[in-house]
Amino acid sequence: TQHSGLRTQDSALAMADPRPVGLFDSGVGGLSVLREVGVLLPREDVLYLADTAWCPYGQRSVEEICQRSLQVGRWLLARGAKALVVACNTASAAALDTLRAQLEVPVVGMEPAVKPAAALTRSGRIGVLATPRTAESERLARLIQRYAREARVFVQECAELVPLIEQGELGGPRLEAALGRYLEPLLAQQVDVVVLGCTHYPLVQARIQALCGPEVQVVNPAPAVARQLARVLDQHGLRAPDTQPSQVDWWTTGSPAQLGQLLAALGHPGRPSQAAV
Ligand code: DGL
Repeated sequence: TQHSGLRTQDSALAMADPRPVGLFDSGVGGLSVLREVGVLLPREDVLYLADTAWCPYGQRSVEEICQRSLQVGRWLLARGAKALVVACNTASAAALDTLRAQLEVPVVGMEPAVKPAAALTRSGRIGVLATPRTAESERLARLIQRYAREARVFVQECAELVPLIEQGELGGPRLEAALGRYLEPLLAQQVDVVVLGCTHYPLVQARIQALCGPEVQVVNPAPAVARQLARVLDQHGLRAPDTQPSQVDWWTTGSPAQLGQLLAALGHPGRPSQAAV
């Protein structure tokens, strides 16, 4: 009826939510996720927190990462976030269950792309690049067990990559040498798929692809995370209004000037503010 038609329209309007999505990482890694969110959900405002003072997460204990993620999540909620994206594999592996239990907004996290890799591999040999903490996480072990039983999965921890990228080393000889060291053992195992198991790594994906060669598929899970965020926003009626001109608010627990420089080098000009978390 006309009446119910009207009601539908009213509730659709009422369901638009202009509040920002909160997104955090230990540093600039979340940018690889933010880019995909911008493509798929161009109307959403984002509060981006780079927890640079605590970077790298990947060398800390699970307990420490968990507590810190909760603190950061609460900080973003206090600034009006309607949903939280944990744009960090290490924090997701350590803290996702806790964040979901403790925070009153929907939480979307990262997952190393083991499932898509298992579907892509022809040789049955998959490489995963990750931070030390993610590499040894139960979450990764469970994913491999669940989705890649038929394949051989080689997990390479890459302790130096996050610090190098945070220092702005995006293509120089130090990055190249580190990537070479991490990729060599995987290529020696003749993997034909390499999973980027840390959100910083897609920022240097072109270098990784060049070192792997054209036969190897390099998989970035960020587009899937953006799709998951879209689904979750829809489920909870949290999408931004169609007319919203979106913006990103940049925050860091480290040096705003340094983050500003790094963002510019990564093609994302922004003027970060100092966050006391
Ligand atoms: N981008 C984070 C991740 O996805 C890096 C963690 C770290 O700071 O070591 O794991």
